[in-house]
Amino acid sequence: YFIGIDIGTTSVKIIATDENGSVIKTISREYPIYFPKPLWSEQNPKEWWEQSKFGLIELLDGLDKNQVKAISFSGQMHGLVTLDENDDVIRPAILWNDQRTDEECQYLNEEIGQTIISKWTGNLALTGFTAPKLLWLRKNEPENFNKIKKIMLPKDYLAYKMSGVFATDMSDGSGTLYMDVKNRKWSKDMLELLEISETQLPKLYESYESIGNINVELASELGLNKDVKIVIGGGDQAVAAVGGGVVESGSCSLSLGTSGVVFTSNEKFFIDENNSLHSFCHANGKYHLMGVTLAAASSLKWWVKEINKTNDFDKLLDEAQEAKIDDSLFYLPYLMGERTPHNDPNCRGLFIGMNMTHERKHMTKAVLEGVAFSLRDTFEIMKEMGIEINAISINGGGAKSRLWCQIIADVLDVKVNKLNTNEGPAYGASILASVGYGLFESVEQACKKFIKITNTIEPNKEDVKLYNKKYNKFKKIYPATKELF
Ligand code: XUL
Repeated sequence: YFIGIDIGTTSVKIIATDENGSVIKTISREYPIYFPKPLWSEQNPKEWWEQSKFGLIELLDGLDKNQVKAISFSGQMHGLVTLDENDDVIRPAILWNDQRTDEECQYLNEEIGQTIISKWTGNLALTGFTAPKLLWLRKNEPENFNKIKKIMLPKDYLAYKMSGVFATDMSDGSGTLYMDVKNRKWSKDMLELLEISETQLPKLYESYESIGNINVELASELGLNKDVKIVIGGGDQAVAAVGGGVVESGSCSLSLGTSGVVFTSNEKFFIDENNSLHSFCHANGKYHLMGVTLAAASSLKWWVKEINKTNDFDKLLDEAQEAKIDDSLFYLPYLMGERTPHNDPNCRGLFIGMNMTHERKHMTKAVLEGVAFSLRDTFEIMKEMGIEINAISINGGGAKSRLWCQIIADVLDVKVNKLNTNEGPAYGASILASVGYGLFESVEQACKKFIKITNTIEPNKEDVKLYNKKYNKFKKIYPATKELF
């Protein structure tokens, strides 16, 4: 068996697959997220480890433990985990969706300057990224900053606990803003600016590389063989792309999860004109681009649960099916600020253009469309760069809605493919485990064998035209309203 562990923001998901890529068993265990102050978002790495260990015990119960060959990881990206000289966690991890670093990002993008930051790292400073979190720590908690012996990302903490090897990978490293993404190494310039040294950072591996064997004590505790390989894995977006087979150059996926992501796999390193996409290393040893809409499925969740006070998603989605495309009613999904293309933590969600004939069904449809338009913003940047995209594979909780998939197909004017797998990042991690074990020569080869398209949704040409018109109006709303917030 190959085991994939995905350290998500709400839970850890663990999956076992066999050598045919079939899912044998999955389990999931939750842990808390802490919001100690407005804009702050933290988790306790020890809770990740505790739940993962319980999860592994639960997963292995009833399986033939001798069959376990390799374990790999996917993790929420960007989170800052710090250990002291005794390998104790210094303070709670500061997560990807924590927004406390606006000032630090302004310092990096404005005082140091976007051109320089982009040249050193391939990206601009965003509040979620790790480097601004280190600057924040240095300024606000110097006693903690001075204790740091090891800096790592969420999944690296697990890999360290399980193997004793201080390691990370290129895809997750890309989201730190202290890696030189193009050259796949730490950026000496950024380390100097942050006042950290390379000895405090893990060694960089490719995501499919084995970093060593499982700890002997842990192996005996779990009943596993001593030669089970630990494969480092990667950041959840790149690993989800592996799980969705998006590894050939030019292939594209769209994830409708809590956040929404448009992701393309590329042979070479690129940045777009304004560097508004994330230019990161992919988990297959190459590169990828992605744009992020922070509140995607969470926009729908907010609309259904918080505003309409129900859990009946199906009822609201069925109603919305009846609403015609109305090019005067809009929703902007910036409930948590926005990454792509605005890089603006201060923008906010909007409904705009209501009149007396509008009912709930129109508003629900506007939410689905607004998220699709925001993802089209990313898609347009990719098209301008000359990346040709005719089909996307769709995943994430929102993709369960047939209506939403159709809206995506119509707004982007592409075929939307559904796949035989929907376990996302945990499945991608199990693929990386199988490649690291040596079952395949490359990630591409594994994906080709395991991942198949099961269903394709074609764009509806009439609605494509209507949505083009509507998108052109949508684009004008953010610039016209941004001064309000
Ligand atoms: C990627 C990102 C999120 C987190 C949490 O840039 O911030 O996908 O990795 O899932």
